[in-house]
Amino acid sequence: MLPCVLWFQSLLVLLSSVLLSHGENCPTSCLCPDPHTVDCSGRGLTRLPDTIPLDVRRLLLSDNWIPRIPADFLVLYSDLVYLDLRNNSLSRIEPGTLSTSSRLVFLDLGSNNLTEIPKGTFGESRSLIKLRLGNNPYLSMVNEDAFRGLTSLRELELERNALSSLQVGALSQLPSLRVVRLEGNPWVCNCNFANLFTWLVTNRHKLPNGVEGMECSLPTDGRKVPLSQLSQDSFRECQVTLTLTDFLIIIFSGISVSVAAIMASFFLASTVHCFQRWSKGVKGDEEENEE
Ligand SMILES: *[C@@H]1O[C@H](CO)[C@@H](O)[C@H](O)[C@H]1NC(C)=O
Ligand SMILES: *[C@@H]1O[C@H](CO)[C@@H](O)[C@H](O)[C@H]1NC(C)=O
Repeated sequence: MLPCVLWFQSLLVLLSSVLLSHGENCPTSCLCPDPHTVDCSGRGLTRLPDTIPLDVRRLLLSDNWIPRIPADFLVLYSDLVYLDLRNNSLSRIEPGTLSTSSRLVFLDLGSNNLTEIPKGTFGESRSLIKLRLGNNPYLSMVNEDAFRGLTSLRELELERNALSSLQVGALSQLPSLRVVRLEGNPWVCNCNFANLFTWLVTNRHKLPNGVEGMECSLPTDGRKVPLSQLSQDSFRECQVTLTLTDFLIIIFSGISVSVAAIMASFFLASTVHCFQRWSKGVKGDEEENEE
């Protein structure tokens, strides 16, 4: 009888300590529905909660007013698999913040105030499968190497940002990309856009609705044109501009070569002429001396 009571007691102690420590670790005003999930969404937070358990795997922080995440955040929370920061006030991501996030699979930075995605922002986040960056109304710059190293990335959202152009390299560097959302951006259909247009047409199966609903504005009068009405031919002039430049370079180098040739032959001719006159002069002198 006694051992049984003892056993039951120790079980109770163990259980309550687990429950208590779990309760202690959960940040105030957040919910912790399971030992690896911390849910602080929609709590009116203006900064990150202080006491997030270090072994958290799913961290939900959406619908708050959080303006920044410290650069060492993912060094501390290295078990994070799922990070939801949707609808906050983030205006920039400190360099290096995401470079150590080797386990991160899902990252939502949509509906924030980001302006730029610089080179190598996501470091070597090799596990990242879904990245949401849409609805950042001032996001106008995405570096060509912004997503470099995201070898597992399957879904990328960049819809409803302020992108007027995007270098194709940013997308073509992603070997696992299956879905990309780019609609609702103020694309300008100039020669910078020509390469992206070619990529979009050949990868239209990766766009949820193809190029339907996407438009770009003409550089001349700002008139908006649906991409579905454009073809490679629409960007014909861009190639002409290129060949024109090449043409000018060719003409210019041709002229330089001719000028150099003319100067060289003139120099040669005058040297020969001088030499002839000099040798005649010497001969004349010799004849005078003989007489
Ligand atoms: C964004 O978060 C704020 C603050 O919690 C909330 O009032 C608003 O409804 C949220 N917006 C969306 C689109 O969810
Ligand atoms: C978002 O950024 C813009 C321009 O960078 C700034 O004017 C605005 O105040 C910012 N909004 C918030 C909520 O931080």
